[in-house]
Amino acid sequence: MPDTAHPVRAIAFVDGVLQLLDQRALPAAEQWVACRTADEAADAIRAMVVRGAPAIGIAAAYGLAMAAAAGTDREVAAQRLAAARPTAVNLHWALARLQALGDVPADRLTEEARAIHAEDLLQNQRMAEHGATLLGRDARVLTHCNTGALATGGHGTALGVIRTAWGAGQLSAVYHTETRPWLQGARLTAWELASDGIPATMIADAACGQLMASGALDWVIVGADRVAANGDTANKIGTLTLAACARAFGVKVMVVAPSGTVDADCADGHAIPIEERDGEELCSIAGKRIAPEGTRVWNPVFDVTPAPMIDAFVCERGVCRPCQGEAPADLLR
Ligand code: MRU
Repeated sequence: MPDTAHPVRAIAFVDGVLQLLDQRALPAAEQWVACRTADEAADAIRAMVVRGAPAIGIAAAYGLAMAAAAGTDREVAAQRLAAARPTAVNLHWALARLQALGDVPADRLTEEARAIHAEDLLQNQRMAEHGATLLGRDARVLTHCNTGALATGGHGTALGVIRTAWGAGQLSAVYHTETRPWLQGARLTAWELASDGIPATMIADAACGQLMASGALDWVIVGADRVAANGDTANKIGTLTLAACARAFGVKVMVVAPSGTVDADCADGHAIPIEERDGEELCSIAGKRIAPEGTRVWNPVFDVTPAPMIDAFVCERGVCRPCQGEAPADLLR
């Protein structure tokens, strides 16, 4: 496989300070936000300075290491970091990995956070190879939200598969959604694809049915924020709609996520907490109010796609077929 790793890195830990590429400002501006305490890291995760399940896990790990270095209560810091966003289990997984080390010196926690960060990039590259193998040749793919270098330690999950498959000459068309309301697709995925020179076509989220009905697509490829033991998958709102359309029009669905995204304690999707964000995110676009004052809004930012609607689950350890009853949790054993 050619080396198609994206050069952008959205997270750095320099001289004990967590530096985050501000994803609220992209692509208009490349600005960095410095977090000097665990509370500042938790605020940045909540405000989506950093976002994407693996990326917020990495940021939380550095946040806990900063709490230990400052001599603040590690338990309290871990609770605040874990509460920043409820759906992505990577946050809890990364914090638990550090806490399992016990009352070790702060430097040891920093070392573990750096290991989580570095491993994520390697896992993404491995998943990309597994996923690309499934695609075959001349594949036409659609992705949702942003699952690239910005959302991870580098390369990406679903976007990593697309990056690797494009580099190997396997793709004949790449589509991505705009991803309302936060526009991760229009702002971040479009930016990553353009900077890699991968030609792509953006669609409105609601255009997915028409695209699939026209016969223009072979695969929907998405990431995940939490995968239940049976394969039910929480991901960016709209993923369930994509999967339902895919089932209706014979398009396959691939979920790509590292093993840290699999929550073996959640038997199925009913146990996954779904984050609801401020309705203002729906009422305005780029700071400009669109909906009339007083508009009532429901703004869940993730949904759960049932395992029978998922053709392939890809993690760094391999591939399973949730639609045939194969459980992602079995890949962890
Ligand atoms: O709200 P976000 O932008 O953090 O949501 C991100 C997603 O839903 C991604 O698809 C998921 O985290 C996988 S990122 C590799």
